[in-house]
Amino acid sequence: MRILILGGTQFLGRALARLAVAQGHDVTCAARGVSGVVPAGARFVRVDRDDPAALGSLAGAGFEAVVDVTRQISHARYALAALADHVGHWSFVSTISVYAEHATPGRSTANTPLLAPAPSDVDGPVGPEHRWYGGCKVSIERLVRERMGVDRSFLCRAGLIVGAEDPSDRFPYWVRRLSAGGEVLAPGKPTDRVQFVDVEDLAGWLLHAADTRLSGTYDGTGPAMSRAEMMAGVAAGLGVDPRLTWVDQDFLLSHEVREWSGERALPLWVSLPESAGLMDRDASEALAAGLVIRPLPDTVRATASWMAAHPAAVRQGGLDPADEAEILRKWHAVRDR
Ligand SMILES: NC(=O)c1ccc[n+]([C@@H]2O[C@H](COP(=O)([O-])OP(=O)(O)OC[C@H]3O[C@@H](n4cnc5c(N)ncnc54)[C@H](OP(=O)(O)O)[C@@H]3O)[C@@H](O)[C@H]2O)c1
Repeated sequence: MRILILGGTQFLGRALARLAVAQGHDVTCAARGVSGVVPAGARFVRVDRDDPAALGSLAGAGFEAVVDVTRQISHARYALAALADHVGHWSFVSTISVYAEHATPGRSTANTPLLAPAPSDVDGPVGPEHRWYGGCKVSIERLVRERMGVDRSFLCRAGLIVGAEDPSDRFPYWVRRLSAGGEVLAPGKPTDRVQFVDVEDLAGWLLHAADTRLSGTYDGTGPAMSRAEMMAGVAAGLGVDPRLTWVDQDFLLSHEVREWSGERALPLWVSLPESAGLMDRDASEALAAGLVIRPLPDTVRATASWMAAHPAAVRQGGLDPADEAEILRKWHAVRDR
């Protein structure tokens, strides 16, 4: 297949390009080259999508499929204007942040309300922490569906993406923390739900979708698991036997530990019940449509080897070891009285 990746210089786009090359596809990546380089074997076309005409020269290149990872509405609009009439299939990597409701576990694409599209004066670029991130993705989903039609478009609402080259401090925090050993602060309850998708698995599914002309709207995430299962999977991938101390959510919140990501946060932890659906979506539609999930220890090994080989590229967020030790000390003082 002749495939155009709009992106391809970092994390998911790069994993997708690498896999597509490995599978023998003819791969072109269009980006500025600011975030990184495309994998060996992929053709790189340097473009700045701020320029409405940037992709015009690719219209006659005979692409069968396009995959776009953009967060920016104008970039999607320009790309569709240039290419929609010339390609057979369009995949857009969206996000579960398009949903307006994250409290209910087990929801699927059909029964979760969506955010409103971004206001007309908002375009991006917007990161996941930006208030219009989800709204921009809603707007882009609409553009793709309108321009390509339902039958030629694949809208993939990714959950948390993990694995090698992860630019965030989320999953890598747990790999680093369990590798370091000692008493590990585990947030909430062992039964709390956690959900994510391996970057290579998501890339594999995007390629499968393009190859088989899969159409429709799906969540792109693996099955939810308990946090205890996640810890066990990370431990198995690293070959360690961690000493976990489970600390109540309310205790963590009262000690100003933050949720999800960033400084003083325990990554992949969200407060319950208000965010119980964020990492507990129904993955069955994606699994039935070809998403294949590898064992968690494999994801952990890939993440750990990348972290070891590229220490400077790994973001050092999450709970600082001194803060973790202090919170554990206070927790034991209360619990062991
Ligand atoms: N990470 C997660 O956990 C998560 C969760 C849910 C959904 N998602 C979605 O998954 C996707 C992840 O994609 P990704 O990992 O490939 O990273 P990304 O951050 O979305 O990559 C953006 C790509 O667009 C290119 N780009 C940005 N500005 C450009 C411009 N002006 N002109 C041309 N190209 C431009 C960048 O390359 P250059 O900078 O080199 O130009 C880069 O390759 C995103 O759609 C994200 O919203 C992520």
